[in-house]
Amino acid sequence: MSEHQMPTGRAASEAAKAAVRKQSELEVLVRARYPLIYVVTWEEQRLLRQVADIATRLDKKLFEWSITTGLVAGGTSIQSQKQRDSATQDPLVALDSVIESVEPALYVFKDFHPFLRGQNMSVVRRLREIAASMKNTYKTIVMVSPMFEMPPEMEKDLTVLDFDLPREKELAVLLGRVIDEVKDNPKLDVQTDARTREQIIHALLGLTLAEAENVLAKTLVRNRSLGPDSVEVIHGEKKQIIRKSGLLEYYDAQENIDAVGGLDALKNWLLRRAVAFTDEARAFGLPAPKGVLLLGVQGCGKSLMAKAISMAWQLPLLRFDVGRVFGSLVGSSEHNIRRAIQVAESVAPVVLWLDEIDKAFRGSRSSGGNTDGGTSARVFGTFLTWLSEKTKPVFVVSTANDVSALPPELLRKGRFDEIFFVDLPSTAERKDIFRVHLGRRKLDASRFDLDVLAAKSSGYSGAEIEEAVVSSLFDMFYEKQEMTTESLVRGIGQTVPLSKTMSEDMESLREWARGRARPATSPELATDGGMTSRKLEL
Ligand SMILES: Nc1ncnc2c1ncn2[C@@H]1O[C@H](COP(=O)(O)OP(=O)(O)O)[C@@H](O)[C@H]1O
Ligand SMILES: [Mg+2]
Repeated sequence: MSEHQMPTGRAASEAAKAAVRKQSELEVLVRARYPLIYVVTWEEQRLLRQVADIATRLDKKLFEWSITTGLVAGGTSIQSQKQRDSATQDPLVALDSVIESVEPALYVFKDFHPFLRGQNMSVVRRLREIAASMKNTYKTIVMVSPMFEMPPEMEKDLTVLDFDLPREKELAVLLGRVIDEVKDNPKLDVQTDARTREQIIHALLGLTLAEAENVLAKTLVRNRSLGPDSVEVIHGEKKQIIRKSGLLEYYDAQENIDAVGGLDALKNWLLRRAVAFTDEARAFGLPAPKGVLLLGVQGCGKSLMAKAISMAWQLPLLRFDVGRVFGSLVGSSEHNIRRAIQVAESVAPVVLWLDEIDKAFRGSRSSGGNTDGGTSARVFGTFLTWLSEKTKPVFVVSTANDVSALPPELLRKGRFDEIFFVDLPSTAERKDIFRVHLGRRKLDASRFDLDVLAAKSSGYSGAEIEEAVVSSLFDMFYEKQEMTTESLVRGIGQTVPLSKTMSEDMESLREWARGRARPATSPELATDGGMTSRKLEL
């Protein structure tokens, strides 16, 4: 869809059209005689209906295979499986009968993924032979499974297809059906004008059809009603479902932008883009910002800033657990990242926060490398492509401490709107950070000599300044004394800043950032920056 926004009504019908177009991607592949298609989804029933539609439209027979039924005609109910050929429960026998059949047909293989694992060389080999021979026939095998297994030798023969989550149109049909079922029930209060329907449908976006149906049922049972109040309930349920998926988490950010000391250049940049998500800005033709990458020294407010952005922009914050994508379930990584992207897009406009992406890449390299059949590379590729091509208002905030772990492709132009370098706070910034943390502990910053505190904390990160404030707070509470500038100076002395022990790492980080990233602090504020004053100390 184009980025130029249209009035809602038109946008909705455009979305519906896009859904139709997108859904027929499977049909396009079938028509183009792709022999082996792999659809990763939990929505087996929904996919089966779609394949059945295609079969009808293209005048092909439909067969289904599962390990319990063997190969049966499409739509055969569990009860009537007399025609079942139990020999075909063996995947090799089933594949053979696909080869032998001459009629145009679609074969849906359900949960075939265990047979694609390494030890099943004969099945994998047979599939490759089939792929070669079927290109000139009117037969297609569609594998459907919630898990993704791709033996490296199949990579060129198998086409992986995303099965999109249901769009507005499909959800509207579901909602219509549910309303029809309950509207005459005197025990239920069903009020659904067009506006409410639209809100409910919007709230359901991001869920599978089955999940959406369950959520609607639960709402009805719990509230004995379906109406404007349901929207809130649906949002709550959706949060739970998203959390259960284990990759995305709704993060309730409490941090205001004022809670971030310093970093004025970054704040300024963000301020100018705050309006970009409003309808007005879209009407003006402003594109939705893609995102930022915050690189730099640990403990200087990168994660804090990610949270503050969502508060400042009044957008929900979705935290994406990068580590888990590349975690133990390497096989499902690719599917996971796609699902996460789909969910994020479905709740857009939203801030999508990827914290410490460097960790993921380091992890994926050491544990994956060549041994994971290129999964990490594919997952990463999927993500990069999405970053550069996305049109939905999903603002990505990534943070990273270690640039050497980041693949260069990530840093290339066009992935992010801007790459910011977050350095140790300058003197002026340290004053600001003291102000923030004293204020947060209900202390009046004007009673302290901030110039002295800033001077004494040269080389300290924001996190270390906070630590100093907290530790002297403990001391003073124990000694039943008032906090003073002197007690804070003592607190500062109790922590050894990381910059002392890791000065070389930081220097190389700065060296790297020079010319490649934009400083998060303006030159005015940075003149007596952490770097210079630290050098004086050495
Ligand atoms: N610039 C800052 N202003 C105020 N507090 C800060 C700042 N930088 C760090 N802190 C404090 O240190 C904590 C840890 O910082 P964090 O944002 O997690 O650092 P990073 O993600 O850059 O490693 C924050 O929650 C905040 O309390
Ligand atoms: Mg962090």
